[in-house]
Amino acid sequence: SFRQHVPKGLKRPPGPRGYPILGNVLELRKDPHLVLTKLSQKYGDVMEIKIGTRSVLVLSGLDTIKQALVKQGEDFMGRPDLHSFQYISNGQSLTFSPDSGEVWKARRKLAQNALKTFSIAPSPTSSSTCLLEEHVSKEADYLVTKFLQVMEEEKSFDPYRYLVVSVANVICAMCFGKCYDHNDQELLSMVNLNNEFGEVAASGNPADFIPVLQYLPSRTMEVFKDLNRRFSAFVQKIIQEHYCSFDKENIRDITDSLIEHCQENRAGENTSVPLSSEKIINIVNDLFGAGFDTVTTALSWSLMYLVMYPDIQKRIQEELDQTIGRERKPRLSDRGTLPYTEAFILEMFRHSSFLPFTIPHCTTKDTVLNGYYIPKNRCVFVNQWQVNHDEKLWKDPSTFNPERFLSAAGTKIDRTESDKVMTFGLGRRRCIGESIGRWEVFLFLATLLQQLEFSLCAGQEVDITPQYGLTMKYKKCKHFQIKKRFPVKSSP
Ligand code: HEM
Repeated sequence: SFRQHVPKGLKRPPGPRGYPILGNVLELRKDPHLVLTKLSQKYGDVMEIKIGTRSVLVLSGLDTIKQALVKQGEDFMGRPDLHSFQYISNGQSLTFSPDSGEVWKARRKLAQNALKTFSIAPSPTSSSTCLLEEHVSKEADYLVTKFLQVMEEEKSFDPYRYLVVSVANVICAMCFGKCYDHNDQELLSMVNLNNEFGEVAASGNPADFIPVLQYLPSRTMEVFKDLNRRFSAFVQKIIQEHYCSFDKENIRDITDSLIEHCQENRAGENTSVPLSSEKIINIVNDLFGAGFDTVTTALSWSLMYLVMYPDIQKRIQEELDQTIGRERKPRLSDRGTLPYTEAFILEMFRHSSFLPFTIPHCTTKDTVLNGYYIPKNRCVFVNQWQVNHDEKLWKDPSTFNPERFLSAAGTKIDRTESDKVMTFGLGRRRCIGESIGRWEVFLFLATLLQQLEFSLCAGQEVDITPQYGLTMKYKKCKHFQIKKRFPVKSSP
């Protein structure tokens, strides 16, 4: 029968009636995060929509999402087998491939360990606290110099193009032990994108749900495939170079440490879960890919909020002046002493919700959520934007106000508030780069704001409407300006 069998005593999740064949696809054409937030007010936290003829479960509400992703984590940890995902990392992506079994678990653990060793673990060789601090500090210094130079030459500029290379260099340093020139065309052509990746990989891309669309010519899809091919080729070349110069007495970076794992694997030292060398080594694809777009987008939203709210920018700079001064460089260890800066970053994550949905999930077995029956293999969208703008959780959610995260005395972060922000997902599929991401955003911003004051050209209109995608960005804006902040001279 066409009707799905629902066990006795259980209900099917409610949802909007769709058109035959198309389902709700027309309603979702524009800003699905807003459309689905609105629909959730009518149908509730557990809702079913149809994209084409395929049913999709949409989860809203912090408690419901926690129930699914944390308490019933095993049931909801799958990834759907979506058409576009097969082009990412040759269909072997740790992040996007449908695997969520033992192989995925072992790869995720490997990725977490390698990341940690080459980012936030104490550095044995350098004067910095850790490699992450060293890399970010170096790139942030470069940005200060570069912004001053471009400002001199052009009088106003788009910071995105520079941010993205600096952030890519941080993850390149950890993954590949090398950095690129800011004019390197090969790197620029892959990282300086207009969200061509995010448009296709976003929740609700119609071609993932309506098979006939996969056979129609699509420029977006061709660009997406080409991008993934070039990306894999770029990483593959670096991996080959690493194999040639590999020395197991000197593990230089994440790629080396993964090669080391491949060799131990072959020696049969770790046979609990058999992993092919290919599946081990191409973990670095995922780390590199996830590591630059997210952090760059976070920084570019931060700069936009700073110029939209100059008083907030001033207050951050006062806090930096009081705590660090203008002589020495900010360090990661300063983060705990800068509550207002921290509150600003939290509010940037909440207000922009630039990752409106997590990457799509799917159920791994038949299950029940809030009394509703959900069959195995059901595609699941998790609406992070809804949580971050829920009137039940936030006072005036559309207002940008960092102070909502400060304790009454204003001296520390109120953890019950900050824990409500959903940006990195939750549970088994939670982002493995969360600490790195947060630390990076903090240190880039602290370094830039200690040295520079950001503003917009007078009289220029800017459009900060987020463009829907896996990560949402605002339209390119080349009206940023900066002024150097000079060291405060202490009076004799
Ligand atoms: C997954 C957010 C930075 C690596 C995710 C997910 C989100 C997210 C929402 C999906 C969670 C889900 O599907 O439920 C962010 C944000 C970042 C950031 C907001 C920065 C501000 C990073 C960095 C790395 C990274 C720096 C690595 C170097 C990953 C990986 C996954 C992931 C590998 C897939 C995990 C899996 O499927 O098991 N991230 N991320 N992320 N992130 Fe991040």
